[in-house]
Amino acid sequence: MADEIVSVNEFQVLARQALPKMYYDFYAGGAEDEHTLKKNVQEFQRIILQPRVLVDVSNIAMSTNILGYTISAPIMIAPTAMHKLAHPEGELATARAAAEFNTIMILSFTASSSVEEVAASCDAVRFFQLYVLKRRDIAVNLVQRAEKSGYKAIVLTADRPRRGRKEADIKNKMNLPQLKNLEGLISIEVFSDKSSNTKPYTNEIFDSSFCWRDIAWLKSITNLPILIKGILTREDATKAMEVGAAGIIVSNHGGRQLDYTPATISVLEEVVQAVGRKVPVLLDGGVRRGTDVFKALALGAQAVLVGRPVIYGLAAKGEAGVRKVMHMLKDELELTMALAGCPTLKDISRSHVRTDRDRL
Ligand code: FNR
Repeated sequence: MADEIVSVNEFQVLARQALPKMYYDFYAGGAEDEHTLKKNVQEFQRIILQPRVLVDVSNIAMSTNILGYTISAPIMIAPTAMHKLAHPEGELATARAAAEFNTIMILSFTASSSVEEVAASCDAVRFFQLYVLKRRDIAVNLVQRAEKSGYKAIVLTADRPRRGRKEADIKNKMNLPQLKNLEGLISIEVFSDKSSNTKPYTNEIFDSSFCWRDIAWLKSITNLPILIKGILTREDATKAMEVGAAGIIVSNHGGRQLDYTPATISVLEEVVQAVGRKVPVLLDGGVRRGTDVFKALALGAQAVLVGRPVIYGLAAKGEAGVRKVMHMLKDELELTMALAGCPTLKDISRSHVRTDRDRL
């Protein structure tokens, strides 16, 4: 490969070369047949752009505002597990890249660095992603620590009452006991709490009874706004509004949970219509190009999140790799906006894209 890396997809190739197979498979893989994993990317590719010409595009403005925080472009960092498997500096490198790029990083509940370490490492705006475990005290503790160390919102991931079945991980015997041998890897207490005698990362510790009415409990333990991640239908979008979600993330967990769920881009409009501009709707899953970001915005998202691209950048080149991935996506978005005749994000409209539904 030439020295100059010109696309996010090239980082995936570099990450594959850099990582042991077990870790690469853990990051890249999806559930069962990996149908949803592939669809997330393919459905973006089915959407066609409808540019306008002879528009003054000498200045392109990409910054936007999410829950009151200005970011340099509508591209945020999705919560993904255990960055130290990708690079020794782990989440700290990712967070520094987020700060340099001026975007929001959502720190994973299963991060390999603590909420405090990440907070101390940079001044990026950070949200904290939460899974609710049977031991509710762990959620209380982590949410309060996140709040105390300046995280600005809680992202409740709702699509993981149990772990999805990733067959490569099963074959590779990918499990935390093995990871625990790596010094310093797991620093959040759920995984380092020897007294609880839990088998980390297994289904037993997750509270699969947690449901809509329990959001009231979550609200009672924090003053931070709560976004709900993992919404794929108008019904659930409506419920999220009813329980007072401050934002919605249209997500199928990057195709890692329930296989044969739809590509996120194909259900975005339905969710946006149900939400009706009351709160921001974000999207993740399969965003690999600036044109993908443009398509998501045209269909009503306020911003997108990227998961694997960040990990691939981190695995290949550490902090500089994450920075490069984010800047490539931003530069591609800027070019797309210019060529499509959209000098500002507000100019990107539904009529700038044609989907399968429009062809019926
Ligand atoms: C994830 N995702 C995820 N989501 C979450 O809420 N908490 C988590 O700890 C993780 N962990 C995680 C690990 C890895 C390796 C991946 C790839 C994904 C899902 C993530 O937030 C996001 O929904 C997807 O990654 C988006 O899809 P792309 O951008 O990877 O295609």
